[in-house]
Amino acid sequence: MLEPMLSDAVHDGILDGRLVAARLRQQVRLRVADLAEAGHTLTLALVRVGDDPASAVYVTHKVRACAEVGIASEVTHLPSTTDESTLLDTIEQLNADERIDGVLVQLPLPDHMDVDRVIEAVAPSKDVDGFHPANLGRLMAGFSLLEPCTPSGVMMLLAAAGVDLRGKHAVVVGRSVIVGRPMAQMLLRANATVSVCHRHTHDLAAHVSAADVVVVAAGVPGLVKGAWVKPGAVVIDVGINRLEDRRLVGDVEFEPAKARAGAITPVPGGVGPMTIAMLMWNTVLAGAARRGVFGPEIQAALERSKDIG
Ligand code: GUN
Repeated sequence: MLEPMLSDAVHDGILDGRLVAARLRQQVRLRVADLAEAGHTLTLALVRVGDDPASAVYVTHKVRACAEVGIASEVTHLPSTTDESTLLDTIEQLNADERIDGVLVQLPLPDHMDVDRVIEAVAPSKDVDGFHPANLGRLMAGFSLLEPCTPSGVMMLLAAAGVDLRGKHAVVVGRSVIVGRPMAQMLLRANATVSVCHRHTHDLAAHVSAADVVVVAAGVPGLVKGAWVKPGAVVIDVGINRLEDRRLVGDVEFEPAKARAGAITPVPGGVGPMTIAMLMWNTVLAGAARRGVFGPEIQAALERSKDIG
């Protein structure tokens, strides 16, 4: 059982991602204003290929978030028939463009493209998604600057809830390169004891029942049953699933899990807002680092990332 959570980010057992994300965006806004005063206007380039409806919505949200914090954005929309080499050329041009601080290629890509090759084409210094193998490798080695936005958003939520992870048993459900694997690394860095569960795991219920903190990123609606949750545990639901009746639900059975958990993130309004706010923060980090403006936050981010012990 975790210590009682006194943070104002938790009310009625709900860990309020909208509140924490709004606070993070305010921090970003101040930093963007400082950089602008020093003559640096930050720009995020977003590349979308094809007509995936969810991707169109996500890119719109990202453009809106940029406008809100004072970061300029430029969207390149390529047709679904674009060949991979054209996309790679587009990325190369953005990498070379001095005005551009961050390059983000919205996923998924059309089937005829090799997503790994595309991710590797983004300059690591502009990789605000934190997906490039160089940045994922640095995360594992302990000296990363640009880290994947969703798991770093989860870490900020846990901190905002006052959760001390040291020695706690954290269970991550899902092992994607974007969420599950970097999530496990970050929890380990915070001195949790980490288990990673996936589709081949035997007795998922037993693993979840043993968790002080459970992070679910499986993309399966209602996969984690409320009855599995250890009383007082913190439950972070990364899933965003649209049901046939248009309802948006997570990967956790919300009401029964809430009845047992010490704190739980809702869907929507939990992890989702954090991901986009973290993207804004990564754009600040990338821009400031690339432009050689090492303010205290950049130093702190570097030092925090080395805090293994
Ligand atoms: N598609 C779903 N999530 C993400 C994300 O975090 N970044 C990008 N680029 N594409 C996504």
